[in-house]
Amino acid sequence: MARIGTADLVIVANRLPVDRMTNPDGTLGWRRSPGGLVSALEPVMRANDGAWIGWPGGDDGELEPFVDDGLQLVPVALSPDEIEEFYEGFSNGTLWPLYHDVVAKPEFHREWFDSYVRVNERFARKAAEVASENATVWIQDYQMQLVPQMLRELRPDLRIGFYLHIPFPPAELFQQLPWRRQVLEGLLGADLVGFQLPGAAQNFIRLVRQRVGHKTHRDTVYLPDGRTVKAAAFPISIDAKNFEDLARTEAVDRRAKAIREALGNPAKIFLGIDRLDYTKGIHARLRAFSELIRDGQFDVEDAVFVQVATPSRERVEQYRILRDDIDRLVGRINGDLGRIGRPAISYLHSSYPREEMAALYKAADVMVVTPYRDGMNLVAKEYVACRYEGDGALVLSEFAGAAEELRQAWLVNPYDINGMKQALLQAYEADPKDIARRMKAMRKTVIEKDVAHWAARFLDELAATRPDHGKSVRPARRS
Ligand code: G6P
Repeated sequence: MARIGTADLVIVANRLPVDRMTNPDGTLGWRRSPGGLVSALEPVMRANDGAWIGWPGGDDGELEPFVDDGLQLVPVALSPDEIEEFYEGFSNGTLWPLYHDVVAKPEFHREWFDSYVRVNERFARKAAEVASENATVWIQDYQMQLVPQMLRELRPDLRIGFYLHIPFPPAELFQQLPWRRQVLEGLLGADLVGFQLPGAAQNFIRLVRQRVGHKTHRDTVYLPDGRTVKAAAFPISIDAKNFEDLARTEAVDRRAKAIREALGNPAKIFLGIDRLDYTKGIHARLRAFSELIRDGQFDVEDAVFVQVATPSRERVEQYRILRDDIDRLVGRINGDLGRIGRPAISYLHSSYPREEMAALYKAADVMVVTPYRDGMNLVAKEYVACRYEGDGALVLSEFAGAAEELRQAWLVNPYDINGMKQALLQAYEADPKDIARRMKAMRKTVIEKDVAHWAARFLDELAATRPDHGKSVRPARRS
């Protein structure tokens, strides 16, 4: 066997948990990106000589592994062609729309899949180099679905987990994929395959039975070589305490008040925060809000909608079209319904640091999260975490994974504009006692089941697979 590494826990994800930045002296450096995933995994990675393998973004070519604040980071380079075919193409032009209910039409191109295979192979080889004997490797998300099987072939000693952060579609949609069998077999290289929701795990088990022909019973697949693969749901969450602490700071409080002031102290602020993605239902929610103004239910003096849309995947055709659609819609709504100094929609096409997000959450009376399909939607949970005073209304799509836990939100079907209008109006007019009752219940869920709980559950379950196996990483628990 080739060189073996020292890491007892290896995370494999498309992206490294750091962003490129320029230091004051002009040199290039790294800044930790604020994702919940890395903060959840940091303690367990430190305790187990962890390494994180991922693409640093961009096409800067090969970069040496480096240590950032005690974490071993291993960059994997993508060439400009691979960015186009593997990342923008197969990952975000084929799998992303296919797995999100075909909200946009997935494109199937053989050369995109070939690139996906090559890049997955590179990640698998890197993981095989970095992992110690009998180590645990945890592979993340739809960009890496072939890695489990490729890695198992290179390193049968490893314990391998896979987690899908996005929905896993029903068989009726999944079977459109010309490479459906390869993807299923890729995932079956893992000992444990985790999903956001039980329904997704069931979709997977059913597909494995029908398409690959393996025996299955409940949540377990029985492979011909005697190995078993378990599929189960582990709904992801956020670092709730961290968000709440941030929301409680003096600076965030001041900023929240300044935001209200800058908006002209309206009676109610509605807020949407999303990556600018066609799955998020931004268009439909803005239409519903604007119709309420047109109908005379809201007045622009009393209600404003703040929509933050974070730029995302801007070279992919569907995302460009979406951006133009939203620009046009916002322009039309504000042109028709706004008054001087009072736009109906305050639209921001930008990304903000966590402090600003917390201030926005704190300023917003009604948070509006209306995706057509979403694996979980962490924005909904972040809003709840920031509302430590127990107020604030959440309007949430039934089709977000978060709706399975946050049952006390005003749940809506984003395809039903009248239904959404009704929910927005109800949330606007709700009795503060009703709002407080709902928020209290949602806060209990979000605080108890945070991202550390999620990571610990997954790693515990993974450690329980193949109990005869040598090493197992211990999830670090909160004291
Ligand atoms: C979703 C996916 C992640 C992805 C993120 C940002 O949350 O589940 O895997 O990293 O979107 O998208 P990007 O294409 O910028 O990595």
